[in-house]
Parts: sequence; structure tokens; C-alpha cells
Amino acid sequence: MAKDTLSVTDNRTGKSYELPIADGCIRAMDLRQIKTGTQDFGLMTYDPALLNTSICRSTITYIDGDKGVLMYRGYPIEQLAEKSTYLEVAYLLLNGELPGQKQYDEFANSVTTHTFVHENIKSFIEGFRYDAHPMGMLVATVAALSTFYPEAKLVGDRATRRAQMIRLIAKMPTIAAFSYRHSLGMPYVYPVNDLSFAGNFLAMVKRIAEVRYTPNKTLERALDTLFILHADHEQNCSTSAMRQVGSSRVDPYSAVAAATAALYGPLHGGANEAVLRMLKEIGSKDRIPEFIKKVKTGEGKLMGFGHRVYKSYDPRAKRVKQLADEVFEVTGKNPLLDIALELERIALSDDYFVSRKLYPNVDFYSGLIYQAMGFPVDMFPVLFAIPRTAGWLAQWEEMILDEEQKIARPRQIYMGSSKRDYVAMSERK
Ligand code: ACO
Repeated sequence: MAKDTLSVTDNRTGKSYELPIADGCIRAMDLRQIKTGTQDFGLMTYDPALLNTSICRSTITYIDGDKGVLMYRGYPIEQLAEKSTYLEVAYLLLNGELPGQKQYDEFANSVTTHTFVHENIKSFIEGFRYDAHPMGMLVATVAALSTFYPEAKLVGDRATRRAQMIRLIAKMPTIAAFSYRHSLGMPYVYPVNDLSFAGNFLAMVKRIAEVRYTPNKTLERALDTLFILHADHEQNCSTSAMRQVGSSRVDPYSAVAAATAALYGPLHGGANEAVLRMLKEIGSKDRIPEFIKKVKTGEGKLMGFGHRVYKSYDPRAKRVKQLADEVFEVTGKNPLLDIALELERIALSDDYFVSRKLYPNVDFYSGLIYQAMGFPVDMFPVLFAIPRTAGWLAQWEEMILDEEQKIARPRQIYMGSSKRDYVAMSERK
């Protein structure tokens, strides 16, 4: 009869072991009993970049990479992107259920009334050079927030924890907008609390001399949808940074700063910028075949294509592609769109990409939208960090409440020198 176990024979000793299998996993700690003798530490797994290691049990986000499925708390991303709002999705991620009207109003009101930052944050941002990257400013300033809320270190206390989560979701757009305005040498615009989450962000970024800035409804909705699509993506690089750093029980501002830093890297939050650079470099549709040929011979990558998890069309990319059309109706078409569409068409009919299951990911079209909306490329990772904060926080709280979790402390295989004695500098060769 089939059993949920794995039989392992250690050929070094001839001993056999039976390891339980649960949820498609064996426990790495169950391998520790496999030893060659009493002095042996026990068997470990070697998994650089954690390609095949589950680090937690989670109820937040589900991805089926082969089928192109993404769900938050069981709700398909397509439905949330079409029918929901970012704040509703943030509530869902944090609480596990969609809010009723009263719960939504309370949550939205809480976030809205925490959008202001202490005036000293303004002076803090003033200290950056005029050309500082807004993502660098965001990382540093969100870390600095922990000094304004020293009680945040009480991560075991639910009420305190929840208060910081609201503050973080509310203040990330304000810090992001202030950082952007600083890089332009423009005065900061204070939050406008009767606008929506996305509308307020647009106002803080865009307002110049208007008495009252009214965001364009299509652009406001498009930004809100992009926020929904970027709100969580299970155990990616920045989220696992949030969990790892948070596992030391540091306050959530410091942990979000670490996650934001992870997102800053070009292999993670910076790919949409690389797509724009690539499209510009290609320059015109007739140069696409030459570009594809280069990619196929290993001279560079088709940026915005391929994904570690998705081996079919990224479900977020489908919606982003539709959004691009809606946004361009307002802003005028981004001239790079035609190149992107043709590139996608050619790649999806080319065996090199088809056989490797390389499809457009979320970054292939999002940069075109951000650019058409007037954001410079430096702001692209910032626009990713704002909504991902809700996902980071949901995952962080899940980790804090998970009794199986401890401070994260991976193992290594030591490959350095064996013991040797110190040699005085004068005697070294
Ligand atoms: N263009 C051309 N070839 C590619 C691409 C690409 N974009 N992506 C993968 N390949 C090829 C690889 O060369 C490899 O070919 P081989 O089997 O002949 O050696 C094969 O496809 C498998 O690729 P891996 O590198 O093993 O895939 P991995 O899962 O490690 O990488 C990644 C995933 C990093 C996303 C990769 O596809 C890539 O670099 N894409 C471009 C950058 C990008 O768009 N990143 C955004 C990801 S989405 C996000 O972070 C929000």
C-alpha cells in the first residue's frame, strides 16, 4: 500500500531510514539523524539560492507557475484586478478575508489618517544630495521611521504591531513622493486625505501650482490596478528578506527597509527599467529579427521575458497589457509599444522561446505605462515597493505568529583552510 514516507538508504553505512512526507515535502531536520558515526554532525541539504526549499507554511498567496495562476487568499488575481481596490486587497492580504463595508471604511480611514509624516522626516530627506536615487532615499527613510516609533519593537503585541502596519502602508507613498520631489528640487506636497490611495499618491507626485489637483480617473484606476497586481508574490527575494530580517524580531520599519533594499536590485524590482532600455536600443520594428538572433546566440536576454516560477503567460502581464491600451488612450501611445508588441509576437512564435517556456512577465509592459504616465525610470522600483509593502507585512506577521519559526539561520559547507597557527607579520612570506 502507498505510504506518505520516503525510504532512504545511506550507502556509506548501509542503514535505511524512513522519512515522513507531508504536503509534498520532507523535513530537512529529519535528515540530521543520518550519520556515519557519533562524531558526524548529520546529513544536511545543499540548496544555494533556495531553489527547492520551502521556508514556511503560508496561507497568503498561491502561484501555479505551469498554469499561470496567481491568487491572493484564494481569490484569482484577474478578479481582484478587475473588481477590487488596492486598499481592499491590502485588507485581504493582512486579514485573510475581504472586508465588509464597515471594516473597509475603518481600514481605509486608518490608512488615510496616517499618511502624514513627522516634519523631521522632511529635514531627513533634505539631507540627501540633489541627484539621490529615490529608491535609496526610500530605503533609508523607512528605516529612519523606526526611530520615530520606538514602541514598534514590541512585535509580539498585536495592537502595536497592527498600528505600525497601518503606518507603513500609509506612509510609504508619502516618503516615496517626497523622495521623488526632492530629486526634482520641487516642494513637497502634503497628503490629500479625501483622495483615494492611488489618487493621493498621484497628487503628491504631480501637483505643481493647482489649487486642487484632480487625478485623471483612468490613470488613477490604472495605478491602483498596478498596485493590486504588485501587492504580493509569495516567497520572492524581497519577501524572504522581510521574513529573514524580521525573524530576529527587529521592528517592522527596519525589516521593510531590508525588503525594499532587496527589491532595489536589477534582478528583482529593476527589470521593467531594463525592458525600456532594451526597447529603446532596438529602436524600430525592422531591427527586431536581428535582436532576437543575438538573444538566441547568448548575446543578452529578452528582458521582461521568463520567470523563475511562471512557465506560462504571467497572469499579471495579461492585465498589464490591457491596462497599457487604457492608459495610452489618455496619455497618447508610448512609441515603444509597437516594438514591444512585435517583439512579443515574434518571440512567442519562435521555438527558442516556446521550448524554454519563456513568456512575457509583469515587467514587459509595466514600464511603458509608468513612462507614459510621466514617471522617470528611477521611480519604477519605488512604484513597486509602495504596494508590495502590504504583502511584506502580511508575510511578516504570519512569520511572527508561526510557532514553528525561529530566527533564520542557514547552514554552510565550510571550504576554507583547516586549522593553522598565526604567523607574525615580519615572518610572513
Ligand atoms: N531571454 C532569453 N533567454 C532566456 C531568458 C530571456 N529573458 N530567460 C531565460 N532564458 C533562457 C536561459 O538562457 C536558459 O537557456 P538554456 O536552457 O539554453 O541555458 C533557459 O531560458 C532557462 O533560463 P534560466 O536562467 O534557468 O531561468 P531562471 O528561472 O533562472 O531565470 C529569470 C528567470 C531571471 C527571470 C530570467 O528568465 C531572466 O533573466 N529574465 C529576464 C529578466 C526579467 O525579465 N526579470 C523579471 C522577472 S519578474 C520580477 O522579478 C517581478
